[in-house]
Amino acid sequence: MEKFIVNGPCKLEGEVKISGAKNAAVAVIPATLLVNGICHLENVPKISDIDNLIEILTKLGSKISYVNDNELIIDNTNITSTIADSELTSKFRASSYLLGSLLGRFNSAQISLPGGCNLGARPIDQHIKCFETLGATVEVKRGNVYAKADKLVGTHIFFDVVSVGATINAILVAALTEGVTTIENPAKEPHVVDVANFLNSQGAKIKGAGTDIIKITGVKELKGGKPYSIIPDQIEAGTFMVAAAVTKGDVLVKNVIPKHMDPITAKLKEAGVTVEEVNGDSLRVTMNERPKAINVKTMPYPGFPTDMQPQMGVLLTLAEGTSMIIESIWESRFQYTDELIKMGAEITAQNKTAMITGVEKLYGSPVKAHDLRAGAAMIIAGLVAEGKTEITNIYHILRGYENITEKFNSLGANIVYVEDDKN
Ligand code: EPZ
Repeated sequence: MEKFIVNGPCKLEGEVKISGAKNAAVAVIPATLLVNGICHLENVPKISDIDNLIEILTKLGSKISYVNDNELIIDNTNITSTIADSELTSKFRASSYLLGSLLGRFNSAQISLPGGCNLGARPIDQHIKCFETLGATVEVKRGNVYAKADKLVGTHIFFDVVSVGATINAILVAALTEGVTTIENPAKEPHVVDVANFLNSQGAKIKGAGTDIIKITGVKELKGGKPYSIIPDQIEAGTFMVAAAVTKGDVLVKNVIPKHMDPITAKLKEAGVTVEEVNGDSLRVTMNERPKAINVKTMPYPGFPTDMQPQMGVLLTLAEGTSMIIESIWESRFQYTDELIKMGAEITAQNKTAMITGVEKLYGSPVKAHDLRAGAAMIIAGLVAEGKTEITNIYHILRGYENITEKFNSLGANIVYVEDDKN
């Protein structure tokens, strides 16, 4: 079984360049299906979720080529099918964006129910509600989702819950839909805005992404042609910021949009970490002492992101005093705390709350990456722990972090990728 071996402890020092945002790229690539022409995407992270998407699109008839590891040319002029490969779509959550894109352009879409990290219930009722409000018929049968429409017409959509995925799907389906669609109570995450910016750069008319109301005036066709660069990954940057802080290091985190980092920066500063903006696109993170205990509640953007909760949990495990984390987005995002307890942490997690009493040290142990961000948390814990931390289930980590071992090792970490038990 493949695993990472983290030999700790270490102090991270140096510079790291953040990749393109996974959660933007996994939406922008399906969004190219709306374009009857050629799309040129830059700053695409080289991760396994993107490899999967490329395979799915290719099977639908897309012609895709790599200019280099992070630059793609996608030609969707000759799509031959609106039925996405069920095995591939079931592997990750973002495959749900194929529904919005295929339905929006071809009035028909079929995917298997999307998979992804096991964070508790992951319903798609808001996605379905938005497709139906626009005039589609949606059926969920034997693990598949079927959506079709004779005609889609712009309308008013009010979401009951703030959902990144449903907001992006609403934007996707409405971009080519006749009339005006307004979306109330949308998600405002940077990746939602990035999808709207990408579509606008190809000819769409989307206003208000990132605010309380999004207004989309449907256009007849998107012709493509303009190169588009994916935004930097807020969560990858946050992961390196926390890692720099817990190892009492000094790291320049480059290629970030500091504004997107504000919810994370604010909490790190509250815990005693020094974060300074450098040249408008980098953050220098330094720390010399034990972090202070703080309380954290996850919220939709601009609140503290749930996708940084496990990494922050590691920092608070080492803080002076008792901290509380309230997870308000997902039902089951504290599985990583059992792994930290194996390493010496003092945590009681129940339902949506974790109480963490800081300890001075963690000790290397065999641990499991329960999901993508839990895996990132295990790496951070391994960096600061005494001895060897063996992390299994690392396919979760490889789904979302580009060159993670190379990046950490260039900062002074000692992480080894082991392909199987023989090595
Ligand atoms: C996106 O998932 C991200 N994934 C997740 O990141 C992230 O944790 C999440 O947003 C919240 O920020 C991608 O962008 C690919 P939601 P998504 O719809 O879109 C409820 C990572 O680690 N809900 O915003 O699936 C839902 O149960 C991943 O990179 C409904 O009730 O999340 C949850 O409580 C993990 N009905 C809340 O909304 C729906 O139809 C937010 O979910 C949809 C969602």
